[in-house]
Amino acid sequence: MYLTDVHMHSSFSGDSEEPMENMILKAIDLGLSEICFTEHEDRILPVNSGRKEELDFRCFWLDVPPYMERLMKLRDKYSGRIKVGFGIEIGMDPEGADHNYAVASGYPFDFIIGSTHYVDGYDVYYKDYWKQGSPEVQMGRYFERTLENIRSFNDFDVLGHIDFAARYIPGGHEGVYTFDRYKEVIDGILTFLIENGKGLEINTKALRVGMKEPHPSRDILRRYRELGGSVITIGSDAHSAGEVGTFIRDALIILKECGFSEYMTFSGRRFSAHKIELPCSEKDI
Ligand SMILES: [Fe+2]
Repeated sequence: MYLTDVHMHSSFSGDSEEPMENMILKAIDLGLSEICFTEHEDRILPVNSGRKEELDFRCFWLDVPPYMERLMKLRDKYSGRIKVGFGIEIGMDPEGADHNYAVASGYPFDFIIGSTHYVDGYDVYYKDYWKQGSPEVQMGRYFERTLENIRSFNDFDVLGHIDFAARYIPGGHEGVYTFDRYKEVIDGILTFLIENGKGLEINTKALRVGMKEPHPSRDILRRYRELGGSVITIGSDAHSAGEVGTFIRDALIILKECGFSEYMTFSGRRFSAHKIELPCSEKDI
């Protein structure tokens, strides 16, 4: 069947050192039909208490022209063997909305993921964020900020890893992050997405780091479906060639379990639907 991975970071992202070409070759080797690079662009700098990491956050300012030039060259080189999309993962923030609109409309992107990485001036990856309140409150703030973000910037195609912060809850997410605890704000996010023609991604990174649920959890996927959502993309969030395509097969099985019969890829910001046919390849993907 048509297999894709449309969330990938090469060395053009501040947290990857992998040459783009290595990731393309890996995807070809795995038998993927289509991939999309979605390099990071997070413009608003988090505070993070002035720790030394603060200096490093500028690495998430994406220099789009050289990225685009390299991608277009490789897209041509490998055309006929794999389809390579030109995408971006925009870190949303109400203060950065004008900048983000300019980036989104300034280049011929195929696909834009809108994500929340920073909340109230903190990167949720670091412990400082979790010191601002109880784990329950900080997890709730993550969802609330996501809703604020998509209300202030909506030039994206899918919302990235909707429950991403769960991965960083000190002591683990079990007992803290439950669907029922955050149902109201999650419903607000899902309803907004559906009413505005936006989709969700299923992001397999959580499975790769040993969590039982992908981002989003099955509960959220089922709820999105129940509310009428149908636009869904599949991405590994790979930052190295070895991570390309990982747990894609699991994602397809989970989508089917949650009531989806198809998933999407984007080209020129418009989606194409692909039927989920199981079982897919037995290859290690
Ligand atoms: Fe992300």
